[in-house]
Amino acid sequence: MKDLRNKILTLLRQNRGQFISGQAVSMQLNISRAAVWKHIHFLRERGYIIHAIPRRGYRLFSVPDLLIPGEIKHGLNTTSFGREIICFKSLDSTNREVYSLAEKGAPEGTVVIAEEQTDGRGRRGRSWHSASQKGLWFSVLLRPVEKSPVEMAPLTAVAAAVIAAGLRKTAGLPVSVKWPNDLFINGRKTGGILAEIKTEPEQVCFVVVGIGLNINHVAADFPPELSATATSFMIEANRCFNRADICRVLLQELEEGYNLFIREGFAPFYDLWKNHNITLGRQVSVRLGNKNVCGLASDIDKEGALIIEGTDKEKHRFTYGEIEHLETAGK
Ligand code: BTN
Repeated sequence: MKDLRNKILTLLRQNRGQFISGQAVSMQLNISRAAVWKHIHFLRERGYIIHAIPRRGYRLFSVPDLLIPGEIKHGLNTTSFGREIICFKSLDSTNREVYSLAEKGAPEGTVVIAEEQTDGRGRRGRSWHSASQKGLWFSVLLRPVEKSPVEMAPLTAVAAAVIAAGLRKTAGLPVSVKWPNDLFINGRKTGGILAEIKTEPEQVCFVVVGIGLNINHVAADFPPELSATATSFMIEANRCFNRADICRVLLQELEEGYNLFIREGFAPFYDLWKNHNITLGRQVSVRLGNKNVCGLASDIDKEGALIIEGTDKEKHRFTYGEIEHLETAGK
């Protein structure tokens, strides 16, 4: 059933903008015209707008903004990322789900997406607000088993740079990276990345990379505590975005970036990260455990670590930490 519906959708898509007759669909799929009509009816109930005109047939007018595997996989050109996509209406956390699938042997590139997360996880034990059908909340499983945990440290910075660049291209929004991996538009946070790693001494078992993007939120969709600091694509561009299209583009860009990172490390992403960041050149305060350093964020190094020229005149190197920009972001 599902397979036939996907085949009907493929035919409609191949004929996008024009009509395809019920007869043609029924012949190509070897089903009755009544069966074609039943599937079209089902698709319409799912939010696909399909015009039906007697003696002309069916025409796909628009697809719903739903995160369903068929929509994301349509036109997806990857080797492993998103070959297996599992979508949930509601889930506690996509990172948690991928972690547990990884323990059961799921393959690299497995993706879990949720329309809503009831216990979305943010960095440093915070929660991540994941309103239903507004954003893109998904996680990807990686198995860089040849790498050491230290070699994987810059992975989130790579992901942030790749996502910022991909979103600029596909959504046309001025997305930037606040070190290490927050995604900002016009000084407000629109997304974040949470990588969770399982290691054995000296070896990586797997990494779960979770990405959260605020997309079709209006201001009232954010809880009061986020209203001054969070934004969405919709708020910034004053229009809706198709989340499946964005997800597809990101899976492609992420797979390409990940493969390059595995081959060559952070070095090929150094310029990309620099060109998209809002941290360098600012006075910042970085905290890691008991260490707290204030000073100028002067550079990142070839391993993706942030270099701070401290008020104590020393140079400090951070691969991780909690950062505060001490001046307002203008980029
Ligand atoms: C941050 O604190 O900035 C990171 C937020 C990461 C949120 C995403 S949403 C999808 C995935 N599942 C989770 O539970 N968290 C990540």
